[in-house]
Amino acid sequence: MVQYLPIFTKLDNKPVLVVGGGDVALRKARAFLKARADVTIVAPEFCQELLEAEQDGEVTLIKDYFNESHLAGKMLVIAATDVESVNNTVFELANQHNIFVNVVDDQPKCSFIFPSIVDRDPITIAISSAGTAPVLARRLREKLETLIPQHIGPLATLVGSFRDKVKARFKHFADRRQFWESVFDSSVVSKVQVGDTEAATEQLHEMLDAKAEPEGEVYVIGAGPGDPELLTLKALQLMQQADVVVYDYLVSDEIMDLVRRDADLICVGKRLNYHSVKQEDTNQMLVDLAKQGKKVCRIKGGDPFIYGRGGEEVQVLKAHDVRYQIVPGITAAAGCSAYAGIPLTHRDHAQAIQFVTGHCKKDGQELDWQGLAKPNQTLAIYMGVIKSPHIQAKLLEHGRSANTPVAIVENGTRKNQRVVRTELGQLAEQIEAHEIVSPALLIIGEVAALHEELAWFGQSAQISSFAQPLTDVA
Ligand SMILES: C[S@@+](CC[C@H](N)C(=O)[O-])C[C@H]1O[C@@H](n2cnc3c(N)ncnc32)[C@H](O)[C@@H]1O
Repeated sequence: MVQYLPIFTKLDNKPVLVVGGGDVALRKARAFLKARADVTIVAPEFCQELLEAEQDGEVTLIKDYFNESHLAGKMLVIAATDVESVNNTVFELANQHNIFVNVVDDQPKCSFIFPSIVDRDPITIAISSAGTAPVLARRLREKLETLIPQHIGPLATLVGSFRDKVKARFKHFADRRQFWESVFDSSVVSKVQVGDTEAATEQLHEMLDAKAEPEGEVYVIGAGPGDPELLTLKALQLMQQADVVVYDYLVSDEIMDLVRRDADLICVGKRLNYHSVKQEDTNQMLVDLAKQGKKVCRIKGGDPFIYGRGGEEVQVLKAHDVRYQIVPGITAAAGCSAYAGIPLTHRDHAQAIQFVTGHCKKDGQELDWQGLAKPNQTLAIYMGVIKSPHIQAKLLEHGRSANTPVAIVENGTRKNQRVVRTELGQLAEQIEAHEIVSPALLIIGEVAALHEELAWFGQSAQISSFAQPLTDVA
């Protein structure tokens, strides 16, 4: 197989030739123009965009059939016509003149190829399959696109502007390398990430003057309900930067597999009756770790600000002047309802949705049952399994019909998701009969009945709710 040497060439003002006047030629010309090459295009006819590009002074057009003289002085040539004999002639003549040539879609006739590009100017990542599997190369590019954050470009520009200063300050290569390693491990990166270039620049100056202590920070991240593909790109990128990960039981194993390999992991899991670490201690732990200069990922199930105590933790960080970022996650109501085929609102059935907790902080604190029992709305009840007899009794007492459809979604979005469909009058009984375990979400309202119509089969365990006829379940 032909081996290609990956090099990045500087084409600034260098003469290149495109043979062909259609869309493909236009695309290739644009790629050359991006590198500020001096582009000449030869063809008997040109598409409108190429004619406009010539009018704008971007390219030179030669309205002619290709001949050898067009190659004179060119460094690269692309054959982009749909006439095979012309493309072959371009290839042969270019080879005779030792000019790099690319015949579009004809890999054996390419002495250079265009790789798939991840563009984070000034950082460029080029991927090539040496012409063997361009679609696979494109897939890889898409993967990298999601993994490489957008701020890498501005970060490279910023540190580039410090290169000479760093060279002047550190005479030895090893010292310079150590300095740059410490920069990329520092909060300079996250300052650029949130667009605060001024603070990042200031910190770089301080680091150069050796005044700056490593500054820690906390990323409060919502990991969604369990399916790792529901993580946001930002969550994934921060999880891969963390020195320490502080996580709850609700965070699925698949998600924990995605954190930086050598990060320290601390579980502060909360389960009813199993408060392994008190909330106050977790708050203090986050502050202490950040003050030690660590980058701390505080990962929570769902969204950190929806029944996630994220607000309390951020208040403590703020009070201790710890830098933080907050990354929202898909909350259980959104994830479970989507994966169970239950639209939380629907013009025919529910004009409002209420998120409700079945587990209140202060004992005796009662919910607004009157409001919750109103029709034409959906209730998404978190932590409602244990209190389901109470929830059922209160909603019935305040007038919600016993026939109101209910879906109980256990382990929503995960491989072992289970959906039990029943009615409000049977809620507590069905939870017991099906031995529902945490985490489970209760969806109460007419929309729950749409599960039968709209459930999809991405989640294999969902089938179990169909396998058991409703008459058996209810
Ligand atoms: C302490 S709350 C945390 C909620 C989380 N912050 C969120 O936004 O989804 C825990 C409750 O969320 C619900 N929950 C979280 N993940 C779930 C899942 N994958 N399936 C079903 N319910 C879930 C359950 O009701 C569980 O008892």
